[in-house]
Amino acid sequence: MRLTRKFIAALVIGVALVALVQGYLDYQRDREVFDRLLRGEAASLGRALGRGVADVWQRDGEAAARQFLDSAASKTGRVLARWVWIDAKSRHDQPRAARADLAPLLQDQIVVVRDDERRFMLTYIRVDVPEARVGALEIAQSLEQFDAYVNASLRTQVIASASAVAFAAVLALALGVVFIGRPISRLAAKARRVGTGDLSGPLRLGQRDELGELANEINLMCERLSDERGARELATEQLRHADRLTTVGKLASGLAHELGTPLNVVRGRAKLITDREVEGQDVVDSARIVVEQAERMTALIRQLLDFARPRPLQKLPVNAAGLARRVCELVATIARKGNVVLVPPAADDGGGGEDLHAEADDGQLTQVVTNLVVNAVQATPAGGEVSLACRAMDRAPPPYVGGARRTWVAIEVRDSGSGMDDATRTRIFEPFYTTKEVGDGTGLGLSISWGIVREHGGWIDVVSSPNKGSRFTVYLPTSESKKEPA
Ligand SMILES: Nc1ncnc2c1ncn2[C@@H]1O[C@H](COP(=O)(O)OP(=O)(O)OP(=O)(O)O)[C@@H](O)[C@H]1O
Ligand SMILES: [Mg+2]
Repeated sequence: MRLTRKFIAALVIGVALVALVQGYLDYQRDREVFDRLLRGEAASLGRALGRGVADVWQRDGEAAARQFLDSAASKTGRVLARWVWIDAKSRHDQPRAARADLAPLLQDQIVVVRDDERRFMLTYIRVDVPEARVGALEIAQSLEQFDAYVNASLRTQVIASASAVAFAAVLALALGVVFIGRPISRLAAKARRVGTGDLSGPLRLGQRDELGELANEINLMCERLSDERGARELATEQLRHADRLTTVGKLASGLAHELGTPLNVVRGRAKLITDREVEGQDVVDSARIVVEQAERMTALIRQLLDFARPRPLQKLPVNAAGLARRVCELVATIARKGNVVLVPPAADDGGGGEDLHAEADDGQLTQVVTNLVVNAVQATPAGGEVSLACRAMDRAPPPYVGGARRTWVAIEVRDSGSGMDDATRTRIFEPFYTTKEVGDGTGLGLSISWGIVREHGGWIDVVSSPNKGSRFTVYLPTSESKKEPA
């Protein structure tokens, strides 16, 4: 509403200025009109009286003329008339105006002087008398009437102006709030929501002006962004699914290798039974072994199918150690095939890892850790070791993640494999970057894992050097809840 306040302040100042200028112009005009009236009145009275005084003076002398003037002047009401000598020495006949101002009288001109201090307008009209001195009539008109008029009109003006300003302020406030303040607040709220990624809830301002247009444009922008986001999410999801299927392929090759032994056991036992080479309790034992091996194979296949199955995205508290152990079981087939020892997180390694819960989507986090473990197994020669650990880490995130120092869930995958040089390490998160043979790697694994972890508000740290193995650490925000929901 700050804009509305500024708008109102500008309007009030504008109206007040206009009222001030209007008042000043009115005052000037009134003064001019009043002056003209007073001058006209003084001139006509002065001339009439002057002629009378001059006649009486000629005929009957000065004393009679003064008497005539006194008796005539006593009838002029608020206008005072008296005789003055321009060169008078005594106060009695001295003009109230300064002598210098009266010089035009010598040319027979009427002189008007404003005595602003005593609030009088003095008019001097020369009267020719049979004397060697210059005499004149001094007509004094009080300005009090004008002052009273000005005061009254000033009061009216102030009341009218104050009412206009108040009315303008109230009107501007009402219109400003309805047409500017409220729509702009709603636009700002909408912009804030868009900034946080919420593109839902189009803004309907219901006004056909620039702000309404702006709201429509923001709605259109949100629609376009939403479409683009949908398309991008779909493409990302398809890529992630493709990466899962690639991993499934790798795990399936290990699985095929793994299924060989139980299948041989099943076939052998079944053959013993069908060839009737066993009898009695041995038949039952052989059948039990067949069932056990079938169950083992089913469990292995179910794990793989479970990994491959697309699931709706859902962020929940995930127990990090539990997830790491499940990944170890999933990847165990190719680890055994490559003769690599896979060490799952210790039940209690003292780092409090067992109780650690990350706020994450289980399926996506499984995909991330599986990618890291598969990479580690692939990079480790036969006889080597890949170990997993989960711990709580108190540290400041890197600048591209941002935020304060806090506790993170760290899932670490460490191998004793080939390691990487600096040139490789700086490129491993690029999509399609691979150092593997064509057909062995697509180069998508780490770039997709990176995208998933960043989407969860975390990051992946890599420490590696050639022939000394690598350590990949996934950092994820901890979950508030300590228990994984059933
Ligand atoms: N633990 C590791 N030790 C050494 N090098 C590694 C390790 N993990 C990844 N790399 C290197 O990073 C590259 C990229 O890995 P990424 O998982 O993205 O692709 P990939 O494994 O080559 O192919 P795929 O898409 O099948 O996973 C690998 O080709 C490899 O050079
Ligand atoms: Mg990989």
